[in-house]
Amino acid sequence: MALRLKERLGKKFDEEIRFFKGMMQGPKTVGSIAPTSSITARKMASVINTQSGLPVLELGPGTGAITKAILGRGVEPKNLVAIEYSTDFYNHLVKLYPGVHFINGDAFDLDKTLGVLRGQTFDSVVSGIPLLNFPMKARVALLESLLDRMPAGRPFVQISYGPVSPIIAKPDRYHIRHFDFIVRNIPPAQLWVYSRG
Ligand SMILES: C[S@@+](CC[C@H](N)C(=O)[O-])C[C@H]1O[C@@H](n2cnc3c(N)ncnc32)[C@H](O)[C@@H]1O
Repeated sequence: MALRLKERLGKKFDEEIRFFKGMMQGPKTVGSIAPTSSITARKMASVINTQSGLPVLELGPGTGAITKAILGRGVEPKNLVAIEYSTDFYNHLVKLYPGVHFINGDAFDLDKTLGVLRGQTFDSVVSGIPLLNFPMKARVALLESLLDRMPAGRPFVQISYGPVSPIIAKPDRYHIRHFDFIVRNIPPAQLWVYSRG
């Protein structure tokens, strides 16, 4: 029992060190000071409809905190596609979550990054990428491109650390919902849901 606890704490520590190293290498692309908490990750994964038969798309899995919650929700590894920009994080994720379709690439260039999956419809999109570090024009273009890849009404859930939606309102194009504010996250996190139709 004590050994299992030690192993778990060791793994958590490894994950934090890995995250910290990633942050030192690319503070702008990592955009946070710690991995997403399990409470936040579970809340984000709660938007997924596991009965839809459609795959889920994750953006910016990093050390895999949200990936773990998505799989924990009951999504089969083969039904999860996850795009990670950092090759270091990508190499680690491939080993950690066998069967998940990880892609080492840029989420802002979806057609190229998704490759053969560019025409795929996804159930929902769960994102940990640091949107605030990218120009608003790129954020809106990404959102529009993601909404085009989901059935009407299905959600794109995004974590952010600012007080307002990281994507400007365009009521004629999409709907924005403040989904949750989670204090038990470092730093405290805001969750936003975007949908169309
Ligand atoms: C704040 S970390 C979140 C990591 C993890 N999802 C978590 O919650 O702990 C942001 C992640 O997004 C990745 N990222 C940043 N820009 C990206 C992009 N354009 N495409 C894909 N991933 C990106 C970073 O490499 C990093 O792993």
